Amino acid sequence: MSKINIYYFSGTGNTDFVVQKLKIHLEKLDNMVAIFSCENVQEITMDCDIVGIAFPIHTSHAPEIFSQFLDKFPQQTNMPLFGVVTSGYMAGDVLDYETKKLKQKGYKPFLLRNIVVANNMHLPYVCPLEVTPNKIIEKRLDKIEKKIVDISIKINNHIKDIRGNDLCGKIFGILQRSIGDMHEKNSFKGFSCSNSCVSCSWCVDNCPTNNITLGTKTVIFGESCILCMRCYNFCPLNAIQMTHKTENTKYYKRFKGIENKGHKTTFK
Ligand SMILES: Cc1cc2nc3c(=O)[nH]c(=O)nc-3n(C[C@H](O)[C@H](O)[C@H](O)COP(=O)(O)O)c2cc1C
Ligand code: SF4
Ligand code: SF4
Repeated sequence: MSKINIYYFSGTGNTDFVVQKLKIHLEKLDNMVAIFSCENVQEITMDCDIVGIAFPIHTSHAPEIFSQFLDKFPQQTNMPLFGVVTSGYMAGDVLDYETKKLKQKGYKPFLLRNIVVANNMHLPYVCPLEVTPNKIIEKRLDKIEKKIVDISIKINNHIKDIRGNDLCGKIFGILQRSIGDMHEKNSFKGFSCSNSCVSCSWCVDNCPTNNITLGTKTVIFGESCILCMRCYNFCPLNAIQMTHKTENTKYYKRFKGIENKGHKTTFK
């Protein structure tokens, strides 16, 4: 039996879904598992035998909030580490890339895996990628569950399974980090709020970086958005826009989460 702490960030619930399942399966294998969203952690304690990290891939990076959180991990001596990333399509070397600084602090990655869950973002300017429709998510659930079981067994038995740091993964990661970042910066012009806002304050209360303030029948965005897509996707009135184009919510459908709960999802 091992004591396992898993630290994670989830913008729209996919990573949270995976981490909750991972906990269930690891506990079935007699491990003691504690999970912590980085949004709620005051102090990082390494009172465990194995540490896990999980986050959504953002163009071959971890979301900024999580990479800054990783910077706060304390120095260790040979602490076994596993990492799980969730994606909409595919991941390259992102886990290898993000765990480099942890290796320098004495963490020993033995399992790094990607799970394709669902895409939660589109950029209407250049590339109107669809968020993954529910019909496809339902078909994927079995595969996702099987992957989580496989990952749990490997963590339980300390079996090495590092993926994404081969040549293909590295090339994909490098290209995404350069071209993807540039593309994102040029194509994302910030969020605005349309007049369907009813000042319910859900987005204000749930933004992980406290980037949103409430106005009168509107909300105002600050400068610390990490593009987690939570407010844009889960606003119950679909009032948050990327341009006037996204007011057409039939075409620019919002991602309401893997279990379709939208703003009923709890984050804080
Ligand atoms: C800014 C941003 C960048 C993303 N980049 C990628 C990517 O490079 N590859 C990919 O497969 N999915 C990408 N996605 C999709 C997310 O990784 C995917 O939907 C993830 O499961 C979301 O997890 P969460 O619900 O825990 O936030 C991106 C999403 C966002 C918001
Ligand atoms: S969640 Fe939507 S309706 Fe509620 S305050 Fe935010 S923008 Fe307005
Ligand atoms: S403003 Fe919206 S997308 Fe940006 S960090 Fe806050 S909740 Fe996430």
